[in-house]
Amino acid sequence: MKPDHIYKQELKKIESKLTAYFKGKNPESLYKPSKYVLEGGGKRIRPFLVLTSAKAVGGEFKQVYNAALAVELLHNFTLVHDDIMDNSEMRRGRPTLHIKYDQNTAILAGDILVTLSYESLLKDCKENSVKILQTFTHGIIEVCEGQSLDKEFELRSDVTINEYKEMIYKKTAALAEMCCSIGARIAGADKFNLKAAENFGKYLGMAFQIQDDLLDLIGEEDKFGKKIGSDLVEGKKTFLFIRALEKSKGNDKKLLMKIIKNKGIEYSEVDSYKNIYYRLNVIDDAKKEILRYTKLALKNANSLPDIDGRELMIWLANALIGRNK
Ligand code: IPE
Ligand code: IPE
Ligand code: MG
Ligand code: MG
Ligand code: MG
Repeated sequence: MKPDHIYKQELKKIESKLTAYFKGKNPESLYKPSKYVLEGGGKRIRPFLVLTSAKAVGGEFKQVYNAALAVELLHNFTLVHDDIMDNSEMRRGRPTLHIKYDQNTAILAGDILVTLSYESLLKDCKENSVKILQTFTHGIIEVCEGQSLDKEFELRSDVTINEYKEMIYKKTAALAEMCCSIGARIAGADKFNLKAAENFGKYLGMAFQIQDDLLDLIGEEDKFGKKIGSDLVEGKKTFLFIRALEKSKGNDKKLLMKIIKNKGIEYSEVDSYKNIYYRLNVIDDAKKEILRYTKLALKNANSLPDIDGRELMIWLANALIGRNK
């Protein structure tokens, strides 16, 4: 079977397992909002990373389905709280949870999602369960630290590309790395294969976040499912912003500094900033950086022992370069 068919087939399984997870759970006031989040679709990349990593080191999908579910539950928790922090009103083409319900409901939905993620993970922890739980926990700590840096950077005018990279490593790449790590660990990977699988996830995650920054500006709203220009509106220090500020002079620089001074812009101003980014060629800079990280991910995938798992990873990394959502 071709990789894209396997992805679609496994996606269906993940969807039905997620639905089953919430069936008959009460009180509705707690579980209905969480279900709303999970029913929004999403690419389910993180569970797929768990599955492909298990396979690529010589294991089987069936060893890690609960762990795959766990990382999707965890990811959705981070999204719910991220949308509160980022004042985002739309995700996966629908109102975000705190808009659909209210902020308190969204906070508690996040709490239950992270807790359910541990519950699910524990089902796949047999041997070396302490190490697996440590890895999972460490991944969550990194996300919180990354999210904190992301908010901190909104107020700063001197964020460097290296600081940005540390921030996106923590908020996004560390979770992808963790997905690959637990998949490989549960499948019993040796030290070298474990490291290669983790590196695959890490570099893929770096490429993924830079591309998310890019799509936030040049994506199509009905495909991307989130509001275009939201990073500029919130005054985020994205790859594009930092590079543009570095390269700009004169009036462009003044306009970019205005974003920092005013802690963001209005949606009506997004197009004029998009023009500045194009003029300074930072769109291409971002594309190059995405490719560079993707190549590093591929290099690590290529060193893994199982050909089928390896092929899935390679397909995924290449498919993500062309993603529009
Ligand atoms: C969004 O993740 C958050 C980021 C780390 C950029 P995804 O783009 O994987 O979101 P879904 O799950 O497919 O909606
Ligand atoms: C996502 O960063 C990081 C998370 C930990 C959720 P973003 O804030 O860019 O993600 P989106 O664009 O809202 O999905
Ligand atoms: Mg955010
Ligand atoms: Mg956000
Ligand atoms: Mg984003």
